[in-house]
Amino acid sequence: MTDVNTRVVLARRPDIYPQNDDFAISRVPMPQVEEGMFLTRNLYLSLDAGFRNWMNESSGDNVLPAMALNEPVMGLTLSRVIESRNPDYQEGDLLMARFAWEEYSLGGGDEFIVKLPSDLKYPLSYYLGILGDTGMSAYFGLTDVAKPKPGETVVISAAGGAVGSIAGQIASLMGARTVGISSSVEKCQRLIDELGYDACINRNSTAGLRAAIAAECPGGVDVYFDSVGGETLEAIIDNLSQGARIALCGSITHYNSDGPATGPGNLFELVTKEATMQGFMTHFREDRYPEARQQLEAWIESGELNSIEYFLDGIESAGIAFCDLFSGRNFGKTIVRLFPDDQG
Ligand SMILES: NC(=O)c1ccc[n+]([C@@H]2O[C@H](COP(=O)([O-])OP(=O)(O)OC[C@H]3O[C@@H](n4cnc5c(N)ncnc54)[C@H](OP(=O)(O)O)[C@@H]3O)[C@@H](O)[C@H]2O)c1
Repeated sequence: MTDVNTRVVLARRPDIYPQNDDFAISRVPMPQVEEGMFLTRNLYLSLDAGFRNWMNESSGDNVLPAMALNEPVMGLTLSRVIESRNPDYQEGDLLMARFAWEEYSLGGGDEFIVKLPSDLKYPLSYYLGILGDTGMSAYFGLTDVAKPKPGETVVISAAGGAVGSIAGQIASLMGARTVGISSSVEKCQRLIDELGYDACINRNSTAGLRAAIAAECPGGVDVYFDSVGGETLEAIIDNLSQGARIALCGSITHYNSDGPATGPGNLFELVTKEATMQGFMTHFREDRYPEARQQLEAWIESGELNSIEYFLDGIESAGIAFCDLFSGRNFGKTIVRLFPDDQG
């Protein structure tokens, strides 16, 4: 085994949209595995827009502290234990973990870690995407929070992203009419052709978002699955139907700012429409992952739910892959294969 661990550190705090040179490669000696610790080889790195928030100096909350400059960037990995001096982790165990962007990680067990079962039926990358935090977010946001009914209109922002690409399919499986929001005519067409969305709104169209939502949702928006916040959320609130539900999954437009978030100025609409808006954090439902995974697997098995993945290779690609989330170059779940010749 190599005696060098290659990592990606936060070289500079991103100014609005992340740039590849906000990140730098650092090579350090392989860590020693002390009593109580274990070492993982990180096979896949999940790129998640939400981690942009913790790159801001003033961030930090009950999930993660603000990332420190020149320290490894935090993310989610799909990892295999390769050495262990901790009785709870055996060599060969597969973990989904909140580790850094690095080829090898030292764990102690008090990190956010989900141990995967040994009888995995699907490619390992699925357990970061459709069967991981991403798929769970789409599943819990819809089944626990927004609860669309058959025939209702569900609008999903970042509709071709990791969560959105699954949320759209699940909302359709629940019998809803699905309308995605994306950044170009080409991506909108892919949403309809490849993900089965009934319609798609180009958020950059000159018609303006409010008018485009009104045109695509003449009976109003019954459910909004929100990943972006800001002006999009405000435009949706102006178009809600009576009794509508908004599931707040994330707020991409706010992650790119270290200042106060610009929020919707029309919340009184929720009062008159008796609408509700609820945030959720998937990882607080960790005890229900088996239930969610069982349903997601059943849909995959029956061919009703498809995984869309966008791969880049090698630790050096991590920064580029992360930037792609904000330029909209990605489609589906963005994953870096850290060891393309070792995929579990
Ligand atoms: N609550 C939870 O537990 C939980 C768990 C996981 C993720 N999340 C949240 O879910 C959201 C989606 O994450 P993801 O991993 O699915 O996303 P993703 O794959 O990272 O995709 C991001 C997509 O967002 C769109 N986008 C980028 N910048 C935007 C902007 N300024 N305004 C509007 N849209 C923009 C782009 O799509 P287009 O080019 O198509 O517009 C891009 O492809 C994030 O907010 C994340 O924090 C929440």
